[in-house]
Amino acid sequence: MDGRATLLWALNLLLLVYTGRKAAAITVQSDSSTNYLVGKNITLSITYTSIKTPDVSWAKDGVQVATFIKGFADELDVNKQKIIGNGSLLIYNSTKSDSGNYTVSVSALGEATGTLTFPVQVYDPVTNVLVSQSPATVDESTPAVSLTCSAATGAVTYTWTRNETQLPSNSSYVTLDGGKTLQIKLPNRTFTGNYTCKVSNPVDSASASYVLNVLYSDSLSGGAIAGIVIGSVFGALLLIALIVLVVFCIRKRRKAEKEKKVDLNHKEAIRTVSGTTLSPDDPAFFTMNNIMYRSSSISMGSYIMNNGDNTSDYVRNPSPIPPPSQPKIKKATQV
Ligand SMILES: *[C@@H]1O[C@H](CO)[C@@H](O)[C@H](O)[C@H]1NC(C)=O
Ligand SMILES: *[C@@H]1O[C@H](CO)[C@@H](O)[C@H](O)[C@H]1NC(C)=O
Ligand SMILES: *[C@@H]1O[C@H](CO)[C@@H](O)[C@H](O)[C@H]1NC(C)=O
Ligand SMILES: *[C@@H]1O[C@H](CO)[C@@H](O)[C@H](O)[C@H]1NC(C)=O
Repeated sequence: MDGRATLLWALNLLLLVYTGRKAAAITVQSDSSTNYLVGKNITLSITYTSIKTPDVSWAKDGVQVATFIKGFADELDVNKQKIIGNGSLLIYNSTKSDSGNYTVSVSALGEATGTLTFPVQVYDPVTNVLVSQSPATVDESTPAVSLTCSAATGAVTYTWTRNETQLPSNSSYVTLDGGKTLQIKLPNRTFTGNYTCKVSNPVDSASASYVLNVLYSDSLSGGAIAGIVIGSVFGALLLIALIVLVVFCIRKRRKAEKEKKVDLNHKEAIRTVSGTTLSPDDPAFFTMNNIMYRSSSISMGSYIMNNGDNTSDYVRNPSPIPPPSQPKIKKATQV
């Protein structure tokens, strides 16, 4: 080997060694989470395999946001992010607009640049979870009832449970609109219960419960309902008729009793004259209101009646005709 050949071999070896070292690229790792809650500070920490202090560059969605060159940090928005340690990135007071794909590049002289890209997602907290029902009232003849879940902010996924247990996957339960709506087909009383909607995102969750009440008062057939209605109306009418009848009967009886009383008085008056029936033509008597009276001042008792004139005139001017041996005895009571 001459001197030229030895130099060439040495150069080749050097090149080989250099190339070989360059092939062992820097490995970048990060144990940072990819999901964050709005308002929190985010630390995108990295570790890498490099003995020397490397240069670190951060980009969000392909746009550079910070560099760390020879131990000096340069943050493009110092109010927003900061290089910490040996090149990790701190994002202050995160907002949803901080979401994106972050790429970190770690380079050192004589070493292949190591890169790592990972997503960062910033979520709103889950707030104001509500469950609404449609239609508002449900009975066993309702074809389907929908429970719809909503949240003011932060909703990503919706899960439904009933009485704190998972819903069975059968044809009774259908979820629509990405799980937002739980539809219950042909609900009956067995579906009455406490339904809970849990709204979640990777960093927050909130729940709302709703009591579904499936009524069964209307579960009777139309015919049965009609029967009950007609029966009730008929029953009521019957009752009214009965009451009217009873009142009528009572009134009638009272009236009859009253009339009977009057009649009784009348009869008693007539009966005051006992024995042989008096003739209304008899001049000693007169009738008034169907009651027979004697015109004498004698009000009660038995007395002898003359054959002829029985008026008071006769008493003052007695006729010469003697009274008969068998006088007629008549009794009368003046009322
Ligand atoms: C920076 O890197 C050096 C060498 O790798 C290490 O000793 C040191 O702990 C690191 N500093 C921070 C703050 O991570
Ligand atoms: C965080 O950012 C929000 C909106 O940009 C602002 O209203 C709030 O004051 C900030 N909080 C802190 C601690 O900087
Ligand atoms: C679905 O599951 C619920 C709860 O176990 C049950 O009440 C309902 O009858 C089931 N529906 C069908 C169609 O089997
Ligand atoms: C309620 O509905 C479910 C599913 O349709 C059915 O399996 C069950 O027998 C019904 N129960 C009653 C009491 O109607």
